[in-house]
Amino acid sequence: MQINIVNSYDELSAKAASIIISQLILKPDSVLGLATGSTPEGLYQHLIKKYNEGIFNFSQAKSFNLDEYVGLEPTNPNSYRYYMEKHLFSKIDLQAESIHMPNGMAASPEAECAAYEQKIKDAGGVDVQILGIGRNGHIGFNEPSVDFQATTHVVSLDEKTIEDNARFFDHIDDVPKQAISMGIKTIMSSKKIILLASGGSKAEALYEMIYGKISPSVPASILQLHKDVTVICDEAAGALIQGK
Ligand code: GLP
Repeated sequence: MQINIVNSYDELSAKAASIIISQLILKPDSVLGLATGSTPEGLYQHLIKKYNEGIFNFSQAKSFNLDEYVGLEPTNPNSYRYYMEKHLFSKIDLQAESIHMPNGMAASPEAECAAYEQKIKDAGGVDVQILGIGRNGHIGFNEPSVDFQATTHVVSLDEKTIEDNARFFDHIDDVPKQAISMGIKTIMSSKKIILLASGGSKAEALYEMIYGKISPSVPASILQLHKDVTVICDEAAGALIQGK
């Protein structure tokens, strides 16, 4: 695991963007694994800026998002589809048919999970996967007591996650209780992983992920076993790993 503690959120975002940009310059038809949440917003801003400068483009790339809430329409501002359109897709030249996100409105979420997993395989797997981390050590929506062998599946959200994500909704009761998420096995199959963490609320989860016991109670701890993980965190998130 390569660990980078940087001075600011902006530096974190720029560093993550530079990895994606070089990936797309060297392999324009890369398969990108994308994430939502507040953390990657700066990364997307940097990507859009450099894309507008003409340094690279997304015309041959494909994308697969990590997760989506069950029961939210793509037009719902809290859906991850809406987030991705707003923060990235509407501003770049990634082709509509190259964008993949789990459909949270699928009549059969289980069938949707199996089809999504197959699409990732058919695309040749994810080249670079972006991850954030939950306060409880979740990645995607793989919550504590996760099954490490799971592929894309329907998950029930942890109470901490519902609390954390309630800030985006009018009321905590409006937060969906379920989501479709790539599983740990799906995430571990990506060739390269970039995990971003910002702010003191992530310090403990980050410490446990890197130095803790590999355990389903900290889903991100499995990343200790992946061959190519780059962690980029700011000083607040890295507070407990500084000097280790
Ligand atoms: C959400 C997402 C995760 C994300 C995490 C942290 O629930 N499903 O993919 O990494 O929580 O979000 P944030 O970056 O807003 O702290």
